[in-house]
Amino acid sequence: MEMNQRPESMERITTPALAEQFIQEQLAAIQAQVGDKKVLLALSGGVDSSVVAALLIRAIGKQLVCVHVNHGLLRKGEPEQVIEVFRNQMDANLIYVDAVDRFLDKLAGVAEPEQKRKIIGAEFIRVFEEEARKLEGIEFLAQGTIYPDILESGPVKAHHNVGGLPEDLKFQLVEPLRLLFKDEVRVVGKALGLPDSMVYRQPFPGPGLGVRCLGAITRDRLEAVRESDAILREEFARNGLEGKVWQYFTIVPDFKSVGVKDGKRSFEWPVILRAVNTVDAMTATVEDLPFSLLQRITARITAEVPGVNRVLYDLTPKPCGTIEWE
Ligand code: XMP
Repeated sequence: MEMNQRPESMERITTPALAEQFIQEQLAAIQAQVGDKKVLLALSGGVDSSVVAALLIRAIGKQLVCVHVNHGLLRKGEPEQVIEVFRNQMDANLIYVDAVDRFLDKLAGVAEPEQKRKIIGAEFIRVFEEEARKLEGIEFLAQGTIYPDILESGPVKAHHNVGGLPEDLKFQLVEPLRLLFKDEVRVVGKALGLPDSMVYRQPFPGPGLGVRCLGAITRDRLEAVRESDAILREEFARNGLEGKVWQYFTIVPDFKSVGVKDGKRSFEWPVILRAVNTVDAMTATVEDLPFSLLQRITARITAEVPGVNRVLYDLTPKPCGTIEWE
């Protein structure tokens, strides 16, 4: 029923006027498809699901039920921003699920990267399924599928998909962004009034900080990843690098080294910085960061993040390193 191929004649959405035209067309299409029924959406706060949410809120208001699952592996401030933007500003029907303990308990002691990913993916579906079962009269599931997901050309895995739901929860899909490229999704998101910090966000993996807290995740090391990541992002923004560097983040390995802090011996973790540029994520080069900025970030992280006594900068391009460490 749905068209899944981008027509040659479709104009690239590059301006607010073109975005507005797309939005008007989609509002009509969504209203025609959904009628007075309810639609469920897993809202991660990433670009694609946020733009779908904003579009559907405009089209059908409270008929949309957004579920935001906090799995404890999100960046600092992300769950708060989802609540602020969608519940407080857009008056959306938003269910916030605090599943932090659940995920971290399931992950306790699991060190193998792919096993960690599997647990996070499976647990996400379970939590979402439980929420879906509590609701009545849902007939549709909205997803932030975009054109590269359909083409399956990108190495950046699409995790918008709540595929894996049991048969009796197979809803009809609403995928209003399915013919758009990422840059077009951003233009549409901006036109819908979403904040720049949501629309121009760098890519973030589905398993989140879980693959940056190396080995078996512990709460204290996870906090070190989250806090150091927040400092790195703050310093990049302050130095005009936000939006200029493709992806930048921190990693905390599961080993310690000796240092001195406040005149005493310390035995703490290092934080590894990663900042890369790429076009398609298949290959990547390392950003040539100013040394003074690296020094400033090092000073802040070692002073402000508990349990950390060293900062390292990963100089490895892809190949032979991958962008993430796990
Ligand atoms: P790698 O590490 O393979 O990463 O060079 C390429 C891009 O993909 C992202 N990435 C993921 N995204 N789920 C995701 O949604 C994942 O499991 C995953 N692993 C890596 C990574 O952040 C980078 O942008």
